[in-house]
Amino acid sequence: MCGIIGYVGNKDAHPILMQGLHRLEYRGYDSAGIALIQDEIINIYKRQGKVNELECYCKDKDVSGKTGIAHTRWATHGEPNNVNAHPHFSSDKKMALIHNGIIENYQLLKTELINRGHEFSSETDTEVLIHLIEDIKRNENVELSEAVRLALTQVVGTYAIIVISIENPHTLVVARKGSPIIIGFGQDEFYVASDGSAIVEYTDKVVYLNDEEIAILTKGEDIHVKTIKNKVRPQPHYIEKLEMSLSQLEKGGYEHFMLKEIFEQPRSIADSMRGRLNSAKEIVSLGGIVEYENHLLNSRRIIIVACGTSYHAGLVAEYMFEDLIRIPVEVEYASEFRYRNPIIYSDDVVIAISQSGETADTLAAVELAKQKGATVLGICNVVGSAIARATHAGSYTHAGPEIGVASTKAFTAQVTVLTLMALCLAKRKGKIAKHRYTHLINELESIPQKIETIFKINDKIKEIASYMEKFNNALYLGRNYNYPIALEGALKLKEISYIHAEGYPAAEMKHGPIALIDEDMPVLVIATNKGTYDKVVSNIQVVKSRRGKIISVVTEGDTDVKNLSDYVIEIPETEEMFVPLLATIPLQLLAYHVAIMRGKDVDQPRNLAKSVTVE
Ligand code: AGP
Repeated sequence: MCGIIGYVGNKDAHPILMQGLHRLEYRGYDSAGIALIQDEIINIYKRQGKVNELECYCKDKDVSGKTGIAHTRWATHGEPNNVNAHPHFSSDKKMALIHNGIIENYQLLKTELINRGHEFSSETDTEVLIHLIEDIKRNENVELSEAVRLALTQVVGTYAIIVISIENPHTLVVARKGSPIIIGFGQDEFYVASDGSAIVEYTDKVVYLNDEEIAILTKGEDIHVKTIKNKVRPQPHYIEKLEMSLSQLEKGGYEHFMLKEIFEQPRSIADSMRGRLNSAKEIVSLGGIVEYENHLLNSRRIIIVACGTSYHAGLVAEYMFEDLIRIPVEVEYASEFRYRNPIIYSDDVVIAISQSGETADTLAAVELAKQKGATVLGICNVVGSAIARATHAGSYTHAGPEIGVASTKAFTAQVTVLTLMALCLAKRKGKIAKHRYTHLINELESIPQKIETIFKINDKIKEIASYMEKFNNALYLGRNYNYPIALEGALKLKEISYIHAEGYPAAEMKHGPIALIDEDMPVLVIATNKGTYDKVVSNIQVVKSRRGKIISVVTEGDTDVKNLSDYVIEIPETEEMFVPLLATIPLQLLAYHVAIMRGKDVDQPRNLAKSVTVE
């Protein structure tokens, strides 16, 4: 998604803004730009392409100024080019604006403005907004923040905006609805950004602006917040400590953020259990939802809403919750759930899973569930994110900032938190024998160490990648707990290597996909020795009989599947419900190596965004 950053204070803004853009690159973008106020004019420099290209373009330009804004754009209206890149000027070039979100009624607003003499240079919805602000400021004769507020009362859509004006050269006017904004406090200076990664090296004193609020940030003055509706007083804002460190944002010697985050998983999984799993006392407790445990235990059903990889974590939870707690669980794509007029009962509990906590469809599903009276819990990775703040309660995954667009450590942290929730509720409901409970919590505690052993076969996985990278298709099969992992493994491969990979329940192969099987369709089967193992062996034999090539993920010591496979990945033995935490790791590494061999941009795959804050 787009990234925004702004600065006002006593330092040169340019280096702060450019470094901030680099920090926001992971969100996915296709152009970048900067605007600086200097000597009563606004200089705007913007280019299609990467931030580095903008930096080269600015080398011989006047980039002085202590007030500025900068933007990475992920195109929604208007193709990626120099004209559509942000920032955008008002007609008189006295104001400039950057925007993350979508203005849904921009065409209507644009027509009205054109009828009033405005001329536009871009195809963007964003340019319409700065012209609307200018039009109101001039015709209503109001000061800048009031013009912004009045303009936003006419806007339908989502936004995180920063506006600057030469008439208020030491002020940033900031507003948000549905897209994130964090405000950092320095010494007589303010930082504004889409997330903390862009400002963490300057301050850890932050405020998270709430939806439909406007903040006026003037150098040397206190922050002033008002609401767009104006009649509504803003909630009090308390300065919080930004829970992020600079070291977490660096690659730490790895070639890519994704590889670093794959190898961080023993630690991130341990962190997601820290303070929540005490095997010595046999206690599992999630502080963030302890007040809602009864809602969960007495719920008619649990509905899990999420997108992408987070949806796959929800599928793992479905198997766990129904197996351990015996409560009906439904898992829904948030984008489908929000528009299909779902039946939601007041005694339903909805769990929203989101790494970024900013995914528009998941946030909308949360709001719908709340409107219908359900209890809504969140499992997010970004502290203070919109979904985390919109839900009644929740648990953070504590995986640390995930920079790579392809989600890895956030997924296993989500599954870990969901596992803790299942164990805690199963114990409270008396649905689990003591010896089994004791075994499960001890086994869960051993998972980080077992992942460390999987890293030892990274070179072998790389060899398998050298086989897979030449194909343009792949089929991933799994049953029961391994079915969501087949989906997740296929998503990892497709989103970073651009190979068309499909995940399927192994038995479903007979109902269509088997027509695809030949020597040009590698088939990856997760065939760990649990539950439906014998059925999976039969599925593999069906593939072999049609000259299919088998790459299998098996439990260490396996022989049956091993003898049928062309390539084998062995993972440590564990409880069936914990296999997803282990089986995912080699699939992440496989996708990573294939993408590298195919020369792809692993951390910022084409067309993808880290946080999809628009529909
Ligand atoms: C995962 O690798 C993808 N980048 C994507 O599917 C992601 O999981 C999805 O967009 C949901 O994001 P969220 O967890 O931040 O809501």
